[in-house]
Amino acid sequence: MTSTPLNNTNSPLQPTPSYADIQSIVAADFEIMDKQVFGSLNSKVKLVMSVSQHVINAGGKRMRPLITLLCARMFDDNPSEKAMHLAAITEMLHTATLVHDDVIDESGQRRGKPTANATWDNATAVLVGDYLIARAFNLLVGFQSLPLLQVFSDGTCDIAEGEVLQLQHQHNPTATEDDYLRIIDGKTSRLFMMATQGAAILQDKTEYMQALGDFGQHFGNAFQIIDDVLDYSGDSELMGKNLGDDLAEGKPTLPTIKALELLKDSDIEGYEQLRIAVQTGKTPNAEQLIELVRRSGSLDYCKQRALEETKLAQQALSTLPDNRYRTGLYQLTELASARLL
Ligand code: IPE
Ligand code: IPE
Ligand code: MG
Ligand code: MG
Repeated sequence: MTSTPLNNTNSPLQPTPSYADIQSIVAADFEIMDKQVFGSLNSKVKLVMSVSQHVINAGGKRMRPLITLLCARMFDDNPSEKAMHLAAITEMLHTATLVHDDVIDESGQRRGKPTANATWDNATAVLVGDYLIARAFNLLVGFQSLPLLQVFSDGTCDIAEGEVLQLQHQHNPTATEDDYLRIIDGKTSRLFMMATQGAAILQDKTEYMQALGDFGQHFGNAFQIIDDVLDYSGDSELMGKNLGDDLAEGKPTLPTIKALELLKDSDIEGYEQLRIAVQTGKTPNAEQLIELVRRSGSLDYCKQRALEETKLAQQALSTLPDNRYRTGLYQLTELASARLL
C-alpha cells in the first residue's frame, strides 16, 4: 500500500479546527446518528429508559461515533445508513462503559450531571449498564455480519478485561508503565479500534483493518493518557467530571507511576507519601500530593508519551485514502493533544 502525505492543516497560519468544525464534515450523518442513540433505546422497563436517557441526554462529545462516520465516508463518500447505525451502537457501548466506570470509581459527576450511581444507586447503574451492552449486541445482530460481530464481541471482552486489570492494580504502587498500557489498551483504545474497524467491515475495505487498528489503538492510548494528565491538571467545570479522583482512589495511572519513579531518585520523603497514598487511597493532603506529582516532572513525561502516541496514530493514517475525511481524523488527533497545551 502506498502512503500519501497527510494534509496537515495545522501550520502556524491555520489554527487547529474546533471540534464543531470537524463534526461539520459529516454534519448530516452526525445528526441522524445522534437521534439514533436515543431512538435505539426501547426497553419496556421504565427505569431502564430513565437511567439510560439520563446519561445519554447529559451530552458527551460523541467522539467514537464521529470516528466511525469519518472512517465510513473516507472509504465511500455517500451517506451510509449502516455506518450511522453502527456509530450509534458504538456510543451506546461507550455509555455503558462510563456508567460501569462511575460505579467502580465511585464518581459523582459525569458530563456535568450527577452520575447514574449517584442519582439512583450502584446496583441500578450496573444493571442498566449491562442492559446497554446487551441492547448494543441486539442491534449488532441486525447487520447479519459475522466479522462485525467478531470484532465487537472480542473488543467488548477486552474492554471488560481492561477494567478488571485496572481493579487488580488499584492500590498497587509498584504498577509499571507496561501494566498501565495493558489496562488502557483494553478499557479505552479497544473501543476506538472497534469504531474504526467496524466502518471498514461495513464498507468492505478490510484491507485497511491493520492501519485502522493501529490508528484506533494509538489514538485511544493518547486520549487516555491525556485524560489521566488532566485528572491532575485540568478544569473540572470544563470536563464535566470531578478531577483528582484517580489519586483518591489509589489508581496508579501514568502520572502517578512516573512520579513515583522520578521521586524515588530525587525526593524520598515525597516518594513515600505518594506511595502510601496509592497503597491506602487515603489522601487527606490531596492538594499537596497533586502538587508533588506536578513538581516531579511526571506530567511532562506523560505529555511526551501522549504526543508520541498521537504521532503513531497520525502515521497510521498515511496509508488510508487521502481525502477530507482522513484530514478530519487527523485533526481530531491534533485537537485531543491540544487539550494538553
Ligand atoms: C471519557 O471519554 C472516558 C475516557 C476514555 C477518558 P470521553 O471524554 O470521550 O467522554 P464523553 O463521551 O465526551 O462524555
Ligand atoms: C476511562 O477511564 C473509562 C473507560 C474507558 C470506561 P477513567 O476512569 O479515567 O475515565 P473518567 O476519567 O472517569 O472519564
Ligand atoms: Mg472514571
Ligand atoms: Mg479519568
